[in-house]
Amino acid sequence: MNNPNAKDNKKSPKTQFVTTPIYYINGDPHIGHAYASIAADIIVRFKRMDGYNVHFSTGTDEHGIKVARSAEIANMTPTKFSDIMAQNFKNMNRIINLSEHDFIRTTEERHKKSAQVFWKLLKKDIYKGIYSGWYSVRDEEYVPENEIVNGKAPSGALVEWMEEESYFFKLSSYQDKLLRYYEENPDFIAPVARKNEVVSFVKNGLKDLSISRSKFSWGIPVPDTDGEHVMYVWIDALANYITSLGFPENKEHVSEIMENCIHIVGKEILRFHAVYWPAFLMSAGISLPQRIFAHGWWTHDGQKMSKSIGNVVDPFNIVKNYGLDQLRYFLFREVRFGEDGDFSEEALKKRAAYDLANDLGNLVQRVLAFIQKLEGRLIVNYDFTERESALFAKSRNLVREMHLKMEKQDLYGALSTVLELVSESNRFTNDMQPWKLAKIDVARLNAVLTVLCESIRAIAFGIFSFMPDTARKIFGFLNVEGKAFAELESNFTDQQFPIPSLLFPKEEKG
Ligand code: MSP
Repeated sequence: MNNPNAKDNKKSPKTQFVTTPIYYINGDPHIGHAYASIAADIIVRFKRMDGYNVHFSTGTDEHGIKVARSAEIANMTPTKFSDIMAQNFKNMNRIINLSEHDFIRTTEERHKKSAQVFWKLLKKDIYKGIYSGWYSVRDEEYVPENEIVNGKAPSGALVEWMEEESYFFKLSSYQDKLLRYYEENPDFIAPVARKNEVVSFVKNGLKDLSISRSKFSWGIPVPDTDGEHVMYVWIDALANYITSLGFPENKEHVSEIMENCIHIVGKEILRFHAVYWPAFLMSAGISLPQRIFAHGWWTHDGQKMSKSIGNVVDPFNIVKNYGLDQLRYFLFREVRFGEDGDFSEEALKKRAAYDLANDLGNLVQRVLAFIQKLEGRLIVNYDFTERESALFAKSRNLVREMHLKMEKQDLYGALSTVLELVSESNRFTNDMQPWKLAKIDVARLNAVLTVLCESIRAIAFGIFSFMPDTARKIFGFLNVEGKAFAELESNFTDQQFPIPSLLFPKEEKG
């Protein structure tokens, strides 16, 4: 129970490191990349609101055969190709309102240095041998013979035969250590179903891992090999996380921050993060992350997204056509975070119209419009009824309730908690009929509107990490912009409410 190795005893509980995968640049950014990044962004914004000192990193994974071949097809040097493609990902981050602190490119000098020092720390577990076997270029992954079906990897990608001198990492000697670690840190891998897959994979036995390539050169040179070998792209890529923390400077500090790190990854790369990466870190004497959360995959109108089918969803277009917060909302409302989902513009349009423009938009609009009828001021000369007090208390408790969900990266659950408050506030408004109260009981009307302002304020805080622009708009309507949740006092009575604009554009009411 009280396990000293368990990750609950954090040294610096107020520090949080959050990462996205670093994306391959062989293609343009698509909705899947935007999804993983927005998920991390939501977690980051919530943590910041909670008073954490957060470091948030993302970036691009630029080495490996896959990228080298794409550059060749584009008739460019890999360097030139990477520069162009990496910029597309940087552009995406501005479009999706990412609040990252660091964008790391694996071709940067700081990363090369970091990956090489990291490699040296693994030295005791590295030996030279010959690799012969199958390799999937698309997955940048070695595929065991018994997993190959009709010449393809489990992912459906074609495999190629490879035979070359290679350095190996003694992964096999980490099997027991990893299994013990998973057991002692039950929340290390989430969601649980995915964790079970990882555990049984490791239980089935781990083979040593080939970690260098000698037949091609687009990668980071293995130290002390005169450039004969470059690192296997995954060891290079995984090291990005510590590069972002300033490694190789200050290893102790890097290690401490890693303890408070949440890696957000797609389910298909969980094995790399939950098996190889922890083994590398153990070998290097650096702390393991706090959690690796594997999210699900999006299909498009029921079909797998692929360049060859031409059905890849472009986040730039979606944001242009439907709005950013609409997209950020949809992605985390449509499916539970961790599960697979199907993207369709129809579904997005509906959610934007019903949940946002109707439910949320109307609530905000009608309450604030009423306050304008009272010349933008509320008065206090009433006691709350039981129902009013209950709704008020519920609003006050909203962020705390969301907190419990967000601690588990239950983004869907957290968002649902806010939406319940939206519905309840709409019901309350319908029942109280402020338009009638205005004629018969102005004190009661003031009480009702004060309670509703409180719930709208809580809702704005609740949606803040999901839809920052919308939340800020509401803060503006309520004059609470820039105030931390902890500072909140219900002082709606001594202020002049500004005349609100429309929260969501009319067209989306659909
Ligand atoms: N470069 C590696 C990751 C290295 S991390 C040290 C890589 N890159 S990737 O570009 O192929 O994909 C990275 C991530 O993008 C996936 O893990 C996932 O988070 C996201 N997605 C890519 N396509 C996706 C969908 N169709 N749906 C949801 N997310 C997916 O693997």
